[in-house]
Amino acid sequence: MADGEPFGELSEVRKALRAAASASMYAPSILNTQPWRWRLHGASLELSRDPDRTLNAIDRTGAMTLISCGAALHHAGVTLAARGYSLAVDRQPAAAPGPLLAIVTVTGSAPVSSLDVEMAQAIRHRHSDRRPIVADNRASDNEIAALEAAAVREECALFRIGDAERPHLGAAVDEAQHAEQGDPAYRRELVAWTVRRPHGGGVSFESLVAPTPRPVAVRDFAAGGETGLFPGFGDDRFADYLVLATPRDTAGDRLRAGEGTSAVWLTATARGLAMSVLSDVVEVPATRQLIASLLADRAQPQLVLRTGPQGQPVPPPPAAHRDLAEVLDEDPL
Ligand SMILES: Cc1cc2nc3c(=O)[nH]c(=O)nc-3n(C[C@H](O)[C@H](O)[C@H](O)COP(=O)(O)O)c2cc1C
Repeated sequence: MADGEPFGELSEVRKALRAAASASMYAPSILNTQPWRWRLHGASLELSRDPDRTLNAIDRTGAMTLISCGAALHHAGVTLAARGYSLAVDRQPAAAPGPLLAIVTVTGSAPVSSLDVEMAQAIRHRHSDRRPIVADNRASDNEIAALEAAAVREECALFRIGDAERPHLGAAVDEAQHAEQGDPAYRRELVAWTVRRPHGGGVSFESLVAPTPRPVAVRDFAAGGETGLFPGFGDDRFADYLVLATPRDTAGDRLRAGEGTSAVWLTATARGLAMSVLSDVVEVPATRQLIASLLADRAQPQLVLRTGPQGQPVPPPPAAHRDLAEVLDEDPL
């Protein structure tokens, strides 16, 4: 089928758009809040922020929510591309303060590439794996190049932290964690989304690992409480730290950063790399500045991704997901 060919029955298109909204529920999100809503309207899906799933302490600027919504947008697009649809994506975060973020419209049919299939298949296999990297080798240069290319396709950049800079990253993360842990509102929000998490959301103790010695600490969700995932015997010596960055730091850049995060993570999953996110260091303005100073071209850091070869014997437990009916509104035809 040629790009832009008529797509046939509208009911078929709407079925695909429903499948895209459903696949978006598997996207990564800050504290697994899944802070998005979809509206099915004709041959379009409209993406909005969900005002009931925002985080006032951890995410004061709203950046993490926008990145999460961008990841959901990318998951939806990947799902439609793998079903042979061509799309127009109208990103509207400049229209803020309104909740509408993007409109995805099916414009016709398009050939399905092997990359489309690979990315769509990775959606159900992607997880946050917070356990230390156990492998005794790093991700290869080819693998890192594939992750960089995935970021670039979404108009983002990916900077690999060099060995000499790693202690600076480690120190910045420690400083950010100290600042956040000292804030009672942060601690309350963390408890609300871990210990007392809502149905279909939040981070379960089964996916958390107890703190272990590592060059760069991961977020301590449990703060001394229960953790359910055996960390194994790795120490992250062979982990790589990648800063996902955008040219500027507008709402549009943040949405794009979410699309880039999704593209990089699905690529990592397809290539057998483990991955998790470190966002505390970019949530605190002073440490975000430190990370920015490590990047070329005045790039704006949006998230830090930790990756390495998958060497754990079993995958981490799946995260909880909201029901589609909770997030999708449908306009009648
Ligand atoms: C914007 C954003 C920030 C995140 N920050 C962190 C973090 O600081 N530490 C962490 O371990 N995971 C972080 N995550 C991962 C989420 O906790 C994870 O995606 C969510 O719990 C769902 O689990 P899953 O990735 O296994 O599907 C972040 C994800 C996003 C999109």
